[in-house]
Amino acid sequence: MGAMPDTIQLDPSLAATKLAAIPIINLEPLLHGTQEEQALAIREIGDACRNIGFFYVINHGVPEALVARVFAEAARFFALPDARKAEIAIEKSGCHRGWFKMGGENLDPAKQKQSGDLKEGVKIGRDLGADHPLVAAGTPLHGPNQWPDLPGWRAVMQEYYDAMEALGRRLLQAFASALGLSSEYFDGWLDAPMTTLGPLHYPPQKGHITEAQIGAGAHTDYGCLTMLAQDEAGGLQVRGKAGVWIDAPPVAGSFVVNIGDMMERWTNGVFTSTLHRVINVSGRERYSVPFFFDPDFDTPVECLATCLGVGEAPKYAPTTAGQHLLDMINASFSYHQKK
Ligand code: OGA
Ligand code: NI
Repeated sequence: MGAMPDTIQLDPSLAATKLAAIPIINLEPLLHGTQEEQALAIREIGDACRNIGFFYVINHGVPEALVARVFAEAARFFALPDARKAEIAIEKSGCHRGWFKMGGENLDPAKQKQSGDLKEGVKIGRDLGADHPLVAAGTPLHGPNQWPDLPGWRAVMQEYYDAMEALGRRLLQAFASALGLSSEYFDGWLDAPMTTLGPLHYPPQKGHITEAQIGAGAHTDYGCLTMLAQDEAGGLQVRGKAGVWIDAPPVAGSFVVNIGDMMERWTNGVFTSTLHRVINVSGRERYSVPFFFDPDFDTPVECLATCLGVGEAPKYAPTTAGQHLLDMINASFSYHQKK
């Protein structure tokens, strides 16, 4: 008798070790503490960004009930038939907004040559009308969202978007302080930051699982900063500096925060953009809600003054936030490659 089709055989290359290397940082002192307490939290955040590039935040001020409503609305959308979801297909958007189907994103194109990630998702950005100066000027990635025809859906997503953007601004202030810059340093590049809410749905995975197709292939995030809410299913793995995969299990009331490539580039590698991947072996649907935080389109991304050691040269050529994101999206979204 052959293997039961429902049993799970994880390829050895997909196993993770259990190390408690991802710190859990309490944001309460950062948001409401004395100056001394804030300084301590900033130090913890800076250490995490320099080391593993990943940390959990708790007591972050975003209400649990709001997070729960976002998950409920995400599940409601993903449960629709594909034909309904296709009404807001990302292919129809001129600014990378809307639904992408299973396999539409491939975060590890070298390994997942045929398949793409085993997930579907929605991209929700800053909702700008045609009369907004950036849209009128034809700025890439700027424009209106596509909203599904589901009563109440838009309001919940927008409320969460606003709450996460506010938290992202606060975290960037902490980053600035941790880098030895004035805490407002990044604020000058946050007039219309390119922030994206991206609910994801991972179906259960069974059978023989290899790197040829998993929920999210090994990747680093493109942008500055990601804040992820994950459900109870687990499956997120982070690759530690020693090259081993570490589980990043669900922690109640937390977001998983990580540094992306743009911030690594901006800080000349002082902050670390770390590989991670998702393998949904929970046997059930998995939902997660990443929020990607990036600055204004025309933000110059070149080595920050405090990140260049004596006698060191910048490791990366200067770019802009917008150009960096466009380059990265072109590399991982199938529909975008033709553009
Ligand atoms: C991502 C990502 C992790 C998750 O979308 O970049 O890493 O748990 N997601 O969905
Ligand atoms: Ni990621």
